Amino acid sequence: MKTAEIRRRFLDYFQHRDHVVRPSASLILDDPTLLFVNAGMVQFKPYLLGQETPPFTRATTIQKVLRTEDIEEVGADARHNTFFEMAGNFSFGDYYKEQAIAFAWELITSPQDRGGYGFDPGSIWVTVYLDDDEAAGLWQSVAGLPEERIQRRGMKDNYWSMGVPGPCGPDSEIWIDRGPDYGPDGGPIVDEDRFLEIWNLVFMEQERGAGGAKEDYPILGPLPAKNIDTGMGIERVACLLQGVDNVYESDLLVPTIALTEQLTGRAYGARSVDDVRFRVIADHARSAVMLIADGVTPGNTGRGYVLRRLLRRIIRNARLLGCEDPVMRQISGAVRDAMSPSYPELVTDFDRIAGYAEREEEAFRRTLASGTTIFDQAAAATRDRGGTTLSGEQAFRLHDTYGFPIELTLEMAGEHGLAVDETGFRSLMAEQRRKAQADAAANKGGHLDLSAYRDVLDEVGASVFRGYEELQSEASVRAILGAEGRLAEAGEGEIVKVVLDRTPFYAESGGQDSDAGRIAGDGVELEVLDVQRPVKGLIVHDVRVTKGELVTGAAVHAEVDGEWRLGACQAHSGTHVVHAALREVLGPTALQSGSYNKPGYLRLDFAWPSGLSAGTLSEVEEVVNLAVRRDLPVRALYTDMPGAKEMGALALFGETYADEVRVVEIGGPWSRELCGGTHVAGSAQIGPLALTGEFSVAAGVRRVEAVVGIDAFRFLAAERALASALTREIGGTRDTALDRVRETVRRLRAAEKELARLRTRQVLAGAGELAGGARDVNGVAFVGARVPDGIGGGELRTLVNNVRGRLGADRPAVVVLVGTADGKVPFAAAANDAARDRGITAGAVVAALAPAVAGRGGGKDDLAQGSGTDREGVAAALAAAERQVAAGGIAPV
Ligand code: SER
Repeated sequence: MKTAEIRRRFLDYFQHRDHVVRPSASLILDDPTLLFVNAGMVQFKPYLLGQETPPFTRATTIQKVLRTEDIEEVGADARHNTFFEMAGNFSFGDYYKEQAIAFAWELITSPQDRGGYGFDPGSIWVTVYLDDDEAAGLWQSVAGLPEERIQRRGMKDNYWSMGVPGPCGPDSEIWIDRGPDYGPDGGPIVDEDRFLEIWNLVFMEQERGAGGAKEDYPILGPLPAKNIDTGMGIERVACLLQGVDNVYESDLLVPTIALTEQLTGRAYGARSVDDVRFRVIADHARSAVMLIADGVTPGNTGRGYVLRRLLRRIIRNARLLGCEDPVMRQISGAVRDAMSPSYPELVTDFDRIAGYAEREEEAFRRTLASGTTIFDQAAAATRDRGGTTLSGEQAFRLHDTYGFPIELTLEMAGEHGLAVDETGFRSLMAEQRRKAQADAAANKGGHLDLSAYRDVLDEVGASVFRGYEELQSEASVRAILGAEGRLAEAGEGEIVKVVLDRTPFYAESGGQDSDAGRIAGDGVELEVLDVQRPVKGLIVHDVRVTKGELVTGAAVHAEVDGEWRLGACQAHSGTHVVHAALREVLGPTALQSGSYNKPGYLRLDFAWPSGLSAGTLSEVEEVVNLAVRRDLPVRALYTDMPGAKEMGALALFGETYADEVRVVEIGGPWSRELCGGTHVAGSAQIGPLALTGEFSVAAGVRRVEAVVGIDAFRFLAAERALASALTREIGGTRDTALDRVRETVRRLRAAEKELARLRTRQVLAGAGELAGGARDVNGVAFVGARVPDGIGGGELRTLVNNVRGRLGADRPAVVVLVGTADGKVPFAAAANDAARDRGITAGAVVAALAPAVAGRGGGKDDLAQGSGTDREGVAAALAAAERQVAAGGIAPV
């Protein structure tokens, strides 16, 4: 029975028994206690805990699940997948143990021609929790299972929770006996390979607290209702119903194994270590593709790191199978073909998915190439010493310098029969983290401690921000702060921090730079340099006292520079419009990850795997400028977080929002973002906007930069002036200018090439004469000469080679040439085989002459070169070279 059919029968069975079919949740469901969805019940957790009222009391799903605790087991045994599909039926305070057991029994034992899975009742065993007599009794009465095929186990095996605080309860697992070929008799408590667990029925009735993952945690008390949560492993059922040996050979994974056979030229099924590698690739490839499809990208922490590790293990295993070429695109394709009937997004999103996998592969291949050499050296050195353990320092260096994850070092060491000092490695890692933290702390020097601001806030209260409504506020000075803390006053010329009771000045936040302007009072004037909000509620102005004396308590008039603010609003609204345009052109995954804007300028970082073409960029620019022309209304409204979500407002990553949130919309739903910034009233006020650059700022993150408003106009005007000037210079008209420039550049390149050819010929023209000047130095034909000024390092190299060739191979010959070019003193030496047989090497000659011209050099035995700076030393250098040759390979004293 194919996997698709197993899935269909499950949902069908429960749908006909009043269960609502729910789609799978994403693998990265937003549960802060979990890295990945690790069970079918995760999306229902609030119902189980009684935090939300379920809209139905019976549900069924096929949930995507990722578990990496057992990653080492993958491929080595018959049953561990990192990604798998879990079929489940759920009851929220509806049916309980008896019905759950009856459903499961009926579905697995009903004959296949009557919609069931057709397992032989005689092959079925179950386990129950130690004291769960009720479940044990039900297996006998409902299913007719004999007592000897019902086994009892403790908390670790038969009490289920997510491994973290949340719902939990005793469970009962269903096992299929695969027969004596697979191991000893005696039920699952004796052998978990012969007896394969296919289904777990959890009787979810308690809530657990923090503690161990499987045992040693407190039970906090009963849940509001008794619930059922079951999970049937689709892969395991497929393995049994398809009569294959292990989960990696079922219909959804075997195509990847077959493709890997093609790619590597090796055969699967030889029962060697290769088989494990094939299975690891098949398993991990599916996990990686499904993770990328759900929005995870390779990284160095959290989910990104898990993905990176999976991808790297695939690539390494492919290499171990003898495949040196990139494999990720093809392997991703095999996964897509197998999985897309259930997950059609794998087809529509394939380019993005394969793109991430491919780029990670490229990066890792580079890492591997350099790191593997270092690893081999370290392993050899360890063995030479008679050691069996790679030091923590070596593992750390591989990690720090070559990006080798520790798991990879462990794996490679294992293949060499070596251990790794993991404790040493971890303590070096901890040391490095401590250093980084200390550095970061030291860099903060010069700033007031946050507690100083908290004290001010406690004493004078929060500052009221008036800047959405007005640009000028009448205010009073509540506090003045200097580098050392509170001040009563500040005199002319001083730079201090000022807190007002109310202010129109926008403090830098949400990517928007702070406002500029002036604050003035009786005889005192302040220039505002910066505005920050160091603690929530407190707005602090950095000011320079340009006139008079500032005293605490003074009444002042605070005034934002209107031109500045208009520019700031244009830039911030422009940022929202660019974001909306990017998502319109590229799709909804092009989500902003950071931004910065100030009058006239904006930049925006967004998730996107590769560079945008010039065509795409002008499309984005066009969407932006059309939105400006339509003069879309800009509105700010206040709501709560669920309200904002309902409106589809984009809450950007890493930001936190209080109960009341501000949503800024441009053109209604076209652009809705949670935002505290200042904005124009209609999009036409943004004015022209021109994208000026697009580049990568991190793996998977691109940045666009733009100028806006009058700055955009000036930018475009300057571009036009440039085009005009170029046209004038190159002649002709604007329409022909580009062709003319291209033609001119082409001719220039050709001329340069020709020139280089002629120069080489000219330089080599002197070779015959140089060779003719060879002298006998202690039996060696020696040429030591200064070449004409202007012959550079590359040419010198060609020349020594050529002269050496002319001296023939019969007798030892050494050529040393020194020149002067571009203020430097390049030199080169060549030695033929016969000279090297005498122990005279080009490297040693160069090393001997270099100091005379204050230079350095090096190279191989046959050819070496370098360069110095002292033009006066050329003669001495040639003499030193000759002495070196005369000494016949022995360093002259
Ligand atoms: N939550 C249980 C499990 O994951 C049953 O679905 O095994």
